[in-house]
Amino acid sequence: MAYNNILSKTEDGITTITINRPSKLNALNKETIQELHEGFKAADADANTKVIIVTGSGEKAFVAGADISEFANFSVENGGKLAAKGQELLFDFIENLQTPVIAAVNGFALGGGLELAMASHFRVASDNAKMGLPEVSLGVIPGYGGTQRLPQLVGKGRAMEMVMTAGMIDAETAKNYGLVNHVTTQEELLPLAKKIASKIMRNSTVAIGKAIKAINANYKDGEDGFKEEIKQFGACFGTEDFKEGTTAFLEKRKADFPGK
Ligand code: COA
Repeated sequence: MAYNNILSKTEDGITTITINRPSKLNALNKETIQELHEGFKAADADANTKVIIVTGSGEKAFVAGADISEFANFSVENGGKLAAKGQELLFDFIENLQTPVIAAVNGFALGGGLELAMASHFRVASDNAKMGLPEVSLGVIPGYGGTQRLPQLVGKGRAMEMVMTAGMIDAETAKNYGLVNHVTTQEELLPLAKKIASKIMRNSTVAIGKAIKAINANYKDGEDGFKEEIKQFGACFGTEDFKEGTTAFLEKRKADFPGK
């Protein structure tokens, strides 16, 4: 599929999706959100894709936020719809994917950019990365899940301060906060993300998908994470991956998982 605002490349089991609007610091306009939806959906459906990495093009930005020029004249109704549609197409969509998504944060991750990184399953960052939710400086609040996922990741007090000050934190602070798992140089960022991806790929993609569901259940209203874990644990016993994983262990050989 041809895209105008993203690049998607699959190699050795890893699909790298790059947001490609460097002249606008990869800001998320409507078309980019739709293309990201299509790109993630296609990668998730592709049996060859075991892990997805999302990053930004250029050396300056991961994503500098939602495209401000698109919503500057919105009404109350349009504002609500913008948030709802974005969450459905991209942010909730990514969080609930069964294929692991790693955000490689290569520069500014602001507003919708940080929200995109937070909707990913975990994050690595380059040492020039700057992260923040500057929405209140524009008279609006984070609308793509930021008020929910930031406190989940860094704790309520830190999230309150970041949202209220609209300030940016650097990569080391983000690591201390638990917002990103690893920090490295810009050159090493994608190699590091791919190294982690290759460790993930040795394991059962089917079991990983079920683990994602169980972990996510803890953060969803009305869902009982422990119950979901029992359900997903039980379901593993009906999979080919489980048969292969346990048989390989007992036969003292490396598992060759059939996968999704
Ligand atoms: N929406 C739309 N356009 C954006 C954008 C956004 N969120 N972020 C950056 N851009 C555009 C700029 O308008 C500029 O376009 P132009 O060259 O056509 O004027 C281009 O990207 C480069 O940005 P610029 O501001 O010139 O770069 P800078 O190095 O001086 O500053 C930032 C970098 C990230 C500090 C600054 O761009 C910024 O504050 N962006 C908005 C961040 C934000 O509030 N995001 C939350 C949105 S809800």
